[in-house]
Amino acid sequence: MVEPLSTTRGVLFRGSGSATPSRSISNAELGQRVQTSDEWIRSRTGIAARRVVNSDESLAELSGLAAERALEMAGWSADSIDLILLATSTPDDLFGSAPRLQARLGATNAAAFDLTAACSGFLFAVVTAAQYLRSGAMRRILVVGADQLSRWVNWDDRRSCVLFGDAAGAVVMEASENGQDDLDGFLLRSDGSRGEVLQLPQVSQRKPLVGDASHQCGGFDPIQMNGQEVYKFAVREVPAILEKLLAQHGVAADSLDWLLLHQANQRILDAVADRFSVPTKKVLSNLAHYGNTSAATIPVMLDEAVRSGSIQPGHRIASSGFGAGLSWGAALFRWSGPA
Ligand code: UT7
Repeated sequence: MVEPLSTTRGVLFRGSGSATPSRSISNAELGQRVQTSDEWIRSRTGIAARRVVNSDESLAELSGLAAERALEMAGWSADSIDLILLATSTPDDLFGSAPRLQARLGATNAAAFDLTAACSGFLFAVVTAAQYLRSGAMRRILVVGADQLSRWVNWDDRRSCVLFGDAAGAVVMEASENGQDDLDGFLLRSDGSRGEVLQLPQVSQRKPLVGDASHQCGGFDPIQMNGQEVYKFAVREVPAILEKLLAQHGVAADSLDWLLLHQANQRILDAVADRFSVPTKKVLSNLAHYGNTSAATIPVMLDEAVRSGSIQPGHRIASSGFGAGLSWGAALFRWSGPA
């Protein structure tokens, strides 16, 4: 387990942005592809539709739009950013897509790299960014969570294809100079021994190279998921890690303004809320419109709640991400808002 170090500088959350593909695919439309029904999908997951990147769109474009909107909210120019972290499991380029985002934004003073932790990726990236800010190494960081899982979904597997969609979300974070610290704490966990329950594995096919040597082919097989095991993992580990984090910081669940969980399944959101007796109106959910967009779910939901005025500066938020790896984590923070 990674525990936070003692800190010298505070962390502020200054702006958010998001972007989703234009094409929405309803449950009924999916029913034209696989044997399923709107009733089954809604009752088991809470999902009514998902967005899928169309031929004239791309993950790079969605990430760029989300980032530009976050910068605009903060009132920052792109060249004031020191670092860009792109949390994604579905980059346009396996060598990394963050530098392309850096170029698109004109963030000429920023280093940029990808970070992969599946559906926990955004939360892991926020915590990573906080370390650079706290250490004094960086002053302004852009964190983007973006995924185009539609590339890797088996669209003929009704047990998994109904869950996923594409999106990008972003936040911009700043080191505080005046002692204000809006990141109260975090916990991060990984358990690779259970990784096979949700994976996007490299293709297993090998081809002859020279002599008795062979090489593995490039590429990946579609997503493989044991839904019931992932479900059990989520409803066990997410409440446990949140409970530990709240206890560490002496925060009572009823003092939270919002519960901001990875949007995987409405039943998982409800089970976690139930465990903490958090009323439904404090549990942020946009699953119905987008499904599970992996690293993008938390920043897209955050951005929608900030822009609708639900989340206000000073509101206290408990967040948890979880998914493939297996990986999971939790963070306790306050929305700072623009300076
Ligand atoms: O970021 C993390 C990503 N992953 C997750 O969040 C997945 C977590 N797991 C889940 O959300 C749930 O396990 C699912 C929604 C994926 C599945 O729900 P379930 O209640 O666990 O269903 P099940 O897999 O036990 O399947 C029950 C039945 C099966 O039929 P039989 O074998 O009992 O006749 C399935 O074949 O439902 C059938 N089924 C479907 N029927 C209609 C499975 N998928 C579908 C479907 N439409 N799309």
